[in-house]
Amino acid sequence: MASFTSAAVAPPATTLLSKTLSHRSNTNANQTHRFKLSCNAHNHKTLKNPQTLINPTPKTSPDIQTLDRRNLLLGIGGLYGATNYLPSAFATPITAPDNISDCIAANAGISDKKDAARTLACCPPVLSEGAPKRFVLPKGPVTRVRPAAQRVTDEYLAKYKEALRKMRDLPDDDPRSFKQQAMIHCAYCNGSYRQKGEDGKPRKEIQIHNSWLFFPFHRWYLYFYERILGKLIDDPSFAIPYWNWDSPTGMTIPAMFEPDPAKENPRRNPIFNPYRDANHLPPVVVDIDYNGTERGAPCIDQIGINLAAMYKQMISNATDPISFFGGMYKAGDDPINMGSPLIGTIESGCHTAVHRWVGNSRMPNNEDMGNFYSAGYDPIFYVHHANVDRMWKIWKGLGIKGHHDPTDEDWLEASYVFYDENKQLVRVYNKDCVDTEPMGYEYEASRIPWSRNRPIPRTKKPKIAARSAGRVIKVVDVKFPMKIDRIVKVLVKRPALKRSKEEKENAKEILFIDGICFDSERFVKFDVYVDDKDDEPATTAAESEFAGSFAQLPHNHTDKMFVTSAARFGLTELLEDIEAEDDDSVLVTIVPRAGCHDTIISNMKIELMPID
Ligand code: C2O
Repeated sequence: MASFTSAAVAPPATTLLSKTLSHRSNTNANQTHRFKLSCNAHNHKTLKNPQTLINPTPKTSPDIQTLDRRNLLLGIGGLYGATNYLPSAFATPITAPDNISDCIAANAGISDKKDAARTLACCPPVLSEGAPKRFVLPKGPVTRVRPAAQRVTDEYLAKYKEALRKMRDLPDDDPRSFKQQAMIHCAYCNGSYRQKGEDGKPRKEIQIHNSWLFFPFHRWYLYFYERILGKLIDDPSFAIPYWNWDSPTGMTIPAMFEPDPAKENPRRNPIFNPYRDANHLPPVVVDIDYNGTERGAPCIDQIGINLAAMYKQMISNATDPISFFGGMYKAGDDPINMGSPLIGTIESGCHTAVHRWVGNSRMPNNEDMGNFYSAGYDPIFYVHHANVDRMWKIWKGLGIKGHHDPTDEDWLEASYVFYDENKQLVRVYNKDCVDTEPMGYEYEASRIPWSRNRPIPRTKKPKIAARSAGRVIKVVDVKFPMKIDRIVKVLVKRPALKRSKEEKENAKEILFIDGICFDSERFVKFDVYVDDKDDEPATTAAESEFAGSFAQLPHNHTDKMFVTSAARFGLTELLEDIEAEDDDSVLVTIVPRAGCHDTIISNMKIELMPID
C-alpha cells in the first residue's frame, strides 16, 4: 500500500468531540487506527452544534501533498491532451447530439409519474441554432479548492449560500438557473438524448450511469455548475464543498444543509431541500452500504461498516479501470444492455447508497435524491458528487498497479454538451477531464482512514467449500438463468491455487456475476459473500467474507422495464484474509436485500484478470 495512506498523518487536534473511540478494524495490531466522532445519537444538542463535528485536519497533510504532486505530474498538459493525441477513424464514442432541440421529455420508468414531485420535461432551452463549440479549458493555475463540507468557515458558507440564492433567482429558462441545472441530470439519465443512427436520425437513448461514462460525465457537470456559481458571485475562485462521507468526521449530512430552525427558517436557506428522509438528518451516521431499510446498528459499528465498504470499493474490488469506472459503452450500444454491461464499484456502492439514504422514502419516487430524475434538485447532490469525483482522483493516486484511466478511444472521445457560465453551448470530452489540475480545481486534503481498513477474518481456514461439497450445487450444474429471490448458495471452481505474490499482483482473481436482469423501476440490491460460515451468515460489509454488493437506483429506460447489468468482485485479498487460497472451490452466497424478487442472474464464474 502506498505510504501516504499511513495513519501517521498529523492527527486532528480535536478537542470538541465528545468521545474518542479506538476502532480495531484489523487483526494486525499495527493497522489499528483511531478516529474520533461522537457516537451518542441521543446527544443531539452537542452534535447539532456544527462545531462539534469540526475536525481541523491541517490543509496540507504531507501524505496528500505527495499524492497531489504525483497527479500534477501526470496531469500537466493532460495525459491525453488534444495536442499530442489524434483519434482514429474507428472509434465510436458516445456523442451527445449537436442539436439540443432533438431532446425529448423523460418519458418512462419513473414508477409513479402521476405524483412525480418534479417535472419530466427536462430539456434545456434552445438559445440559438448552431452546433456547440468545442470547449477549451482556460489555462492557468489551480484556483478553486473544494473544501470538506464539515469544515467550512462562516465566511465560506455565506458565499456559498449567496451563490445558490442567485442561481435560484435566475429565471427558469436561463440555462444556468438552479432548475435548469437540476434538469441536466434528468435529461442525461432519463432518456432525453439519443445517439444518432447511421441515417443521422436519433436512435438509442444516451445514459450516463451504469458504465464508464459515470465519472467523466459527472465531473463535467459539476465543473460548469461550480463555474456558474462563481460567476454569479463574481468570484472565479469559488469552489463547491464536498461531503466527506468516507471519513468518520464527515459521516452525517453536513450541518449546513439542515439549519437549526430555532435560529433560522430552513426554507429561507437556499441550500435546504424539504425532500430528504427525516430519519437521516444529523446526527444520524450515513449507511454507505444502505439496503433501503434501517440497519439500526450502533453508530460505531456503522462507521466500521462504512470504512470497510469504502475499502472494498476503492481497493479490493476496484482492481482495474473497468471494475472501477464501469463497463464499456459505445455508440450503437443499448444504454444498459450493452457490450460489457457493468456498473463501477463506487457508482454501485457508496454513490447509490447515499442517494437512496438521503432521498425521502415517503415520497412517491423517493424524491429528491432517491431517484435520478429528481436528484439534481437537492443542493446536496452536487456536494455528494464532489466526493464521488474526489474518489476518482484518490483512486488514481493510491499508487496501486492497475489504477489508471481507461485508455480506449471510445472512452477518451466520448462527449457531452453543456451550457457554460456564459450561456455558451459547448461540447466537452472525457479526454479533457482526466485530471483536475488542468481544470483549475483541487480538493482540500482529508484523511482517508478506509485505506487501511482490510476487514477482520471471522474464520481462518474455513474449509467451508470442501465441507459443503455434495450439499451445495456446483456452478456447472446450475441451470441458468437463476432467480435470486432468496438466499442462493453455489460452489464455484477457482482457476488457480497457491499463486505467488507476483502472480497475484499481475492478475487478480475475480468473481464475475453476469447477466443480472432486474426491474429498472425499483431500487435493487443484493450482497455477495464468499466462504461464509454456515451457521451464522455474515450480515455486514465489515466482515472479511463480504465480497461486495450490486445496487441500482430506479432508472428510466425509455422502453424497457427489465434491464441487464453485471458485477465483479475481487477475491484475491478476501481469500488471503480467510486463508482459503488452497481451496479449489469457493462457496458463493448471494443475499437479496431489496427489490430482487424478480431478479435473475445468467452466469457466475471465477477467472484471473491480468492487470496492467
Ligand atoms: Cu448521475 Cu449520483 O448520479
